[in-house]
Amino acid sequence: MNRVLVFDSGVGGLSIVNSIREQIPDTIVDYAADAGFFPYGLKSDEELQARLPKLCKALIEKAKPDIFVMACNTASTLSLASVREIVDIPVVGTVPAIKPAAEITQTGTIGVLATPGTIRRQYLDDLERQFAAHIKVVRHGTAGLVELAERHVRGEILSQDMFDNAISPLFSGAEGQNIDVVVLACTHFPLIRDQIQKACPAYVTKLIDSGDAIGRQVGRLLVREKSSKKSPDACVLLTGGRANRDAYFPVLEKFGYTRVETVDL
Ligand code: DGL
Repeated sequence: MNRVLVFDSGVGGLSIVNSIREQIPDTIVDYAADAGFFPYGLKSDEELQARLPKLCKALIEKAKPDIFVMACNTASTLSLASVREIVDIPVVGTVPAIKPAAEITQTGTIGVLATPGTIRRQYLDDLERQFAAHIKVVRHGTAGLVELAERHVRGEILSQDMFDNAISPLFSGAEGQNIDVVVLACTHFPLIRDQIQKACPAYVTKLIDSGDAIGRQVGRLLVREKSSKKSPDACVLLTGGRANRDAYFPVLEKFGYTRVETVDL
């Protein structure tokens, strides 16, 4: 069986695991989270650049996937190229869905919700220049919403007010009143899609993320293995030691993972 390794700083990449499982059910989807270094959205570019290529290479050597998916906008918009340079398997990145959002907006104004790291990236400027030069793009970086997604997925009951407060700055400026499409440019956000939808004003007609596009891209790149050899079950690799393993285990179990290992890198 083919194996795909999906990587994020925390639980966000599990939204991408769902998309891949739906689109290519005959594939083993392993997961890796750099829980010991979470959250990426508040780390400096230098810190992330120093860590990501080495970490991704080590995870690939351990899990031996056919394809590596960087299921994190914050990491992909900074380090995708440097990871690709040092590994010898296809690497699929996750980048903000600016292009499809720009294609479907009726008002000519889209919103981008991401981590503070992604919001300030040159990569985002380039996407805007390439695909959204003819429309207005309003950006809002929020580390608070990432934190809320982690807590929600772990089963904590959170009030809608908390989501409303984290999202409201996207709409508070004059141009915010025209946003009809919101790009969920962080893989944590599809996990709290309902709460985000409720927090958006009624004139927002669509939330858009990159999950399905990534599932399709992985499907295109996979060279299907016909082998009937039994492969080991899907596994999870976590940084940050035993404490993180204990904290993550119940969530991972809900997503069907029971083999969870800690890695020391
Ligand atoms: N899930 C990550 C993303 O897509 C970010 C979470 C974090 O701040 O670590 O950008």
